[in-house]
Amino acid sequence: MLHGFVAVLRTSEVSPGTMTWVVIDRERVLIANVEGAFYALRDACGHRQAPLSKGTLDGCVIECPLHFATFDVRTGKLLSGPTAADVPAYAVQVKDDTVYVKHAPSR
Ligand code: FES
Repeated sequence: MLHGFVAVLRTSEVSPGTMTWVVIDRERVLIANVEGAFYALRDACGHRQAPLSKGTLDGCVIECPLHFATFDVRTGKLLSGPTAADVPAYAVQVKDDTVYVKHAPSR
């Protein structure tokens, strides 16, 4: 068990190039698989809180389904769109085919 991390899903549950969401501490958290690397962001756009997991993932770029802001899935940094707000990112670790996410966002 990794200290401060919670097991959220098996690596096989999120195919490369796709994303899904889980609930951690009553918060929706998006889990994305980018070519075998896993990333976690708060599942709420920095603009009007639309669920980013319902948007599109193109490489490392997530596009919001509502007004099409784009964010870097690795960091949550805003790339473009009608907002100045980044999305909080969570630390992720993979161990024995299980994806673990740290309870609180790192930023
Ligand atoms: S809610 Fe995401 S860009 Fe408006």
